[in-house]
Amino acid sequence: MSKVVLIKNKIENFKKKSINVDGDKSLSIRFVLLSSLSKGRSVASNLLRSEDVDSAIKSIRKLGIKIKIKNDYCEVIGKGLYGFNYKKNLVLNLGNSGTSARLITSMLSNTNYWVKITGDKSLKRRDMSRIIKPLKSFGINFKNNRSKLPIWVKGPKLLKPIKYTENLGSAQCKSAVMIAALKANGKTQLKCVQSRTHTELMFKNVLKIPIKLEKKKNFDIIEIDGMNEFRGFNYKIPGDISSASFFIVLTLLSNKNSLSIKNVNINPSRTGIIKILNMMGAQIKIFNKKSYKGEPTADIFIQSNKRLKAINLNPKFNSSAIDEFLLIFLVASMCRGISTFKNLSELNKKESKRLDWGIKILKMMNIKVKKINNNGLKIWGNPNLKIKKSFEIKKFLKDHRIFMLSTIAALTLGGKWKIHDASCFKTSFPKYLEILKTLGAKIK
Ligand code: S3P
Repeated sequence: MSKVVLIKNKIENFKKKSINVDGDKSLSIRFVLLSSLSKGRSVASNLLRSEDVDSAIKSIRKLGIKIKIKNDYCEVIGKGLYGFNYKKNLVLNLGNSGTSARLITSMLSNTNYWVKITGDKSLKRRDMSRIIKPLKSFGINFKNNRSKLPIWVKGPKLLKPIKYTENLGSAQCKSAVMIAALKANGKTQLKCVQSRTHTELMFKNVLKIPIKLEKKKNFDIIEIDGMNEFRGFNYKIPGDISSASFFIVLTLLSNKNSLSIKNVNINPSRTGIIKILNMMGAQIKIFNKKSYKGEPTADIFIQSNKRLKAINLNPKFNSSAIDEFLLIFLVASMCRGISTFKNLSELNKKESKRLDWGIKILKMMNIKVKKINNNGLKIWGNPNLKIKKSFEIKKFLKDHRIFMLSTIAALTLGGKWKIHDASCFKTSFPKYLEILKTLGAKIK
C-alpha cells in the first residue's frame, strides 16, 4: 500500500514568512559526478540530500570513489579522469534519476567489463537513445541496441572527439556529450539548442577546463579540449528554483499572503517560471542578487495576486521552465482568458507523462482544456473557480512533481484531495512537507 496524504483545507494566512528550499538538484548531481573525476578532495555544502542525489552517490561509490557525507556536507576524493575501479558484473541503479543515469553513462570509459545501468519503473520507460547515439560516436560500446534501461556499457580508454548537434534542447544530452568530451583525444564541438547551462559554467569557472562558449541567436556553440585533468574543488549549492516554484505558486494563488524565498539559483536558463508568471501579471521580485562561480543567486519575493491574465507562450521559454509546466498550467487555469502552450512534447518524456497528467488534473477540476498538435495545450482560465469535489490522485509513477502539484492545487483551490505515493517528493525536495507545515498547511 502506498502512503497517502489527505488535504481538506485551503492554506490560511502565512503573511511575511521567509523560507529556504533544499539545494539545487542539477548542481548537486553535477557536483557528485564531476568531483569523482577530479584529482583530490572536493567539498560541497548545502548538497541536496534527496533520493536522486543519493542514487548518484551510491553509484559513484560503487566505482571505487570515497564519499563522506554528513547532513548536507559532502566530501569526495576523486582519482582523476581514469580513476574508477570497475568490478565484474557491476550494476549501477540510478533509481528515478534521469540526469544521473544519462550523465553517469557518459563517464564509463576504460572499463574492463560490461557495466549494467538500470533504474526504477519510471526511469526504465525513458529514452536513452538520445545519449547513446552521440556516445557511440565517441567510441563507447552498448550491448544489444537497447534504447531503454537496463543498458550495458563498455568504454575504451581513449575516446574520439566528435562534432555533434543537440536538437532537443536537453541539458542532459548536452552534458553527457560534454562529460564524454573530457576523455576525448582532441577537440569536441557541440552545437546545441539552448538548455540549462550549469555544466558549461562548472567546466569554465570551477574545473577550469579549456572550453569555448559562444551564444548565437537560436543555439549555443561549445568546444571542449579533452584529456585535461582537473583538481578537486569547493562548491556551495544554492536553493533549487524548481523547488521554490511550488511555494511561488502557493503564495500567488492563495489569499493575501507574501513570502520570501532565500538564496535561490536564478541562472537565466532556469528562471522561465518567473518570467512567465510575471508576463501573466504576478509581480515576482528579485532581491540580493549575487554571483557564485558564474551562477547567479538571489532572494525571491512573492505576494498573492488573483488578477492574473492568460498567456500565449512563445516556445522559446519552454526549456527554461521545463520542470515547472504543471505549475504554470495550474496558474493558467485560474487566469482571465485562454492560454496557449506549444512544442511541449518533451513533457511527456519526463518521470511521468506530464503533459497528459496536466490535462487530466485540470479536467478533474472542471477546467476546459484541449490538447493541440499532440504537443501543446489550450487552457480556458476561470478566475472564479471554486472547488468542492473530492479528488483522488494515484498511479502517477511516483512522479514527485505530480505529487507536489496536487498538494498546491488542494491548498489553493479547495476540495478534498487524497494523494497517493506520499513520500515521492523525497526524490527532489525532502523538506517539502515540513516547509508546507511551517506555513500552516493542514496535511494528514
Ligand atoms: C536536468 C535537465 C532537464 C530537467 C531535469 C534536470 C539537468 O532535462 O528536466 O529535471 O539537470 O540537466 P532536459 O534538459 O534533459 O530535458
